[in-house]
Amino acid sequence: MPLQPCRPEPALSFVNEIPEHGPAIEALLNRAFGPGRFAKVSERVREFAAFAPELSFCALEGGRLVGVVRMWRVMAGDQPIVFLGPLAVDEDARKHGLGAELVERACAAAEAAGEAAVLLVGDLPFFQRVGFEVASGVTLPGPVDPRRVLVRARPSLGLAGSLHAR
Ligand SMILES: CC(C)(COP(=O)(O)OP(=O)(O)OC[C@H]1O[C@@H](n2cnc3c(N)ncnc32)[C@H](O)[C@@H]1OP(=O)(O)O)[C@@H](O)C(=O)NCCC(=O)NCCS
Repeated sequence: MPLQPCRPEPALSFVNEIPEHGPAIEALLNRAFGPGRFAKVSERVREFAAFAPELSFCALEGGRLVGVVRMWRVMAGDQPIVFLGPLAVDEDARKHGLGAELVERACAAAEAAGEAAVLLVGDLPFFQRVGFEVASGVTLPGPVDPRRVLVRARPSLGLAGSLHAR
């Protein structure tokens, strides 16, 4: 039998988001979330939050965008925090740890920048693997299942109040 040509997998790299990534990110988010993505309460937060590209990451495989996580600066009551989302990994790249890696990188960048907490709306079974727990006492700008409001914070940091612009 003839030998198959050996083609190595393209290497995965992580870079901060830059404007040139915009169109590929939009396409990935549309594939991942569908047309309902703009109806989410997280979108209402992003309308007043300040985008933090230096805390946001793209995963590139041979130049192709395969994953993204975005981060936003907001206030929770009188505490400055970071709001995470959206997070998406392209379907053919899932279940290899990339989603967790993107969250870890974004949270590590936020911690290195002195941020006290990262908040998001998501599924606890996925996000508890990367250090998140239910955040009680934080109010979002719209109806949301309180079991999906999650936080990864400095020990003993109590968050309370509504989310608003910094
Ligand atoms: C969620 C997502 C980013 C995970 O990406 P990924 O690269 O597959 O993540 P990881 O490889 O680190 O983890 C995969 C594991 O998480 C699990 N998982 C994925 N989404 C989950 C969810 N919503 N709830 C619970 N578990 C979930 C997978 O079943 C898998 O479990 P296994 O390790 O037991 O097989 C990806 O599935 C995705 O883009 N989904 C669509 C968009 C989305 O839902 N984003 C999250 C918004 S809260």
